[in-house]
Amino acid sequence: MQLIKINATDSTNTYLKQLLGETLVTDFSVVITKNQTQGKGQRGEKWISEKGKNLTFSILKIKPLIAVDRQFLLSSLVSLSIIKTLESYNIPNLSIKWPNDILSDHHKISGILIENIIKSNKIDFSVIGIGLNVNQKLFKGLPKVSSLKSILGMTLDKDELLHKLIENLQIYFKLYTEKGEGIINAEYETYLFRKDKPSTFELPDKTLITGIIRGVTDAGKLCVQMEDATKEFDLKELKLLY
Ligand code: BTN
Repeated sequence: MQLIKINATDSTNTYLKQLLGETLVTDFSVVITKNQTQGKGQRGEKWISEKGKNLTFSILKIKPLIAVDRQFLLSSLVSLSIIKTLESYNIPNLSIKWPNDILSDHHKISGILIENIIKSNKIDFSVIGIGLNVNQKLFKGLPKVSSLKSILGMTLDKDELLHKLIENLQIYFKLYTEKGEGIINAEYETYLFRKDKPSTFELPDKTLITGIIRGVTDAGKLCVQMEDATKEFDLKELKLLY
């Protein structure tokens, strides 16, 4: 495993993707920076992280042996490895807000952005970007965001945390290879935020609907039981309000 530390970069995902075209990079190589200036989030949003305080890094998985129509499995694997790592730090009430926001109680502490490079209908490379709020205390204008330091009341060693995260990610990839996807999907659902609870969602046209989250399909769509039927939604089709 290569650990590539960069003082500053726009996005570790972008940096790692560029490296792929230029040099030989080994499986589970990591690009990490103290200062990510244009961090990318989901739904085209930005990931903002105070310089030097948090973990912002990307890991490369070469040929993850996951079918293109099962890409969501990567989200599940990565989410679970973050959850397991945070459990070892006694972070309370951890859950996964679909598709892959990591929450402690109602606060987001980590986000994942996976970019897959697909060739001949196979995932050639998976660039797994992780942002984890570690030692930042203030999140201006973001009342639903928190960090490990705010939760535990102490400063954490980021290097130690990074190594535990990588180790757990390798453990989950191995589990998938040896035992298959069933065990991963089942565990993901045990952490699914607001599962089996009535919730309110916002649709793209801003209308609000209510329904109960029942699970996630193999393709990664959220199954919501509504008054008349259970419907499947993808990321752009609804937003959970909480
Ligand atoms: C989200 O929750 O919206 C996803 C956030 C992902 C942020 C990480 S930080 C490291 C990597 N590089 C990026 O540009 N984004 C991901």
